[in-house]
Amino acid sequence: MKNIAIFASGGGSNAESIIHYMKGIDDINISLIISNKSKAGVLKRAYNHGIDAHLISRSSFYESKEILETLKEYNIDWIILAGFLWLVPAYLIDAYPERILNIHPALLPKYGGKGMYGMNVHKAVKENNEIVSGMTIHFVNQKYDEGKHVFQATTEINPEDSPEDIAAKVLKLEHKYYPQVIHHLVQSS
Ligand code: GAR
Repeated sequence: MKNIAIFASGGGSNAESIIHYMKGIDDINISLIISNKSKAGVLKRAYNHGIDAHLISRSSFYESKEILETLKEYNIDWIILAGFLWLVPAYLIDAYPERILNIHPALLPKYGGKGMYGMNVHKAVKENNEIVSGMTIHFVNQKYDEGKHVFQATTEINPEDSPEDIAAKVLKLEHKYYPQVIHHLVQSS
């Protein structure tokens, strides 16, 4: 059995799609949800699915290694970032080498880096009149959005698409592919 912890800061629609998908997989368990926001929708989703959830504070995350104890308690093998907006500290990357994945709502290396998250990304894509966008799944290293790419998928953008339309198209790709890519990587690890 491989245990996964999902880290999320927001509504958690990706977390939901991963939880749903993994219910059909015998040897992978979503064991823990970690959030840095007490009002994050993902916490309600965790509750609804009966998955333990932990809230982390900035000081515990960056000034202690408490989270490692929690992850150990749950025998966590893989960490999946799903809309988690804090930079992952070095001690955590060192504890999980090539075992932390992130999803980004654009075709990296374009539209990545600090401050490039959620609608900021889609607005920038629109402003630059891109005709294609998509999503990138990558390993996490110490810099925002710069880890090794694992998978990308693209979607066409029409001139009349708003940033919200682009977001919806990209999110659809995320929900479809992130669970499959996680499944493949975790199973072959
Ligand atoms: C997703 O689109 C994800 O790619 C993005 O946040 C959204 C979370 O949505 N992540 C980033 O922008 C990371 N830089 P969700 O909470 O509904 O899964």
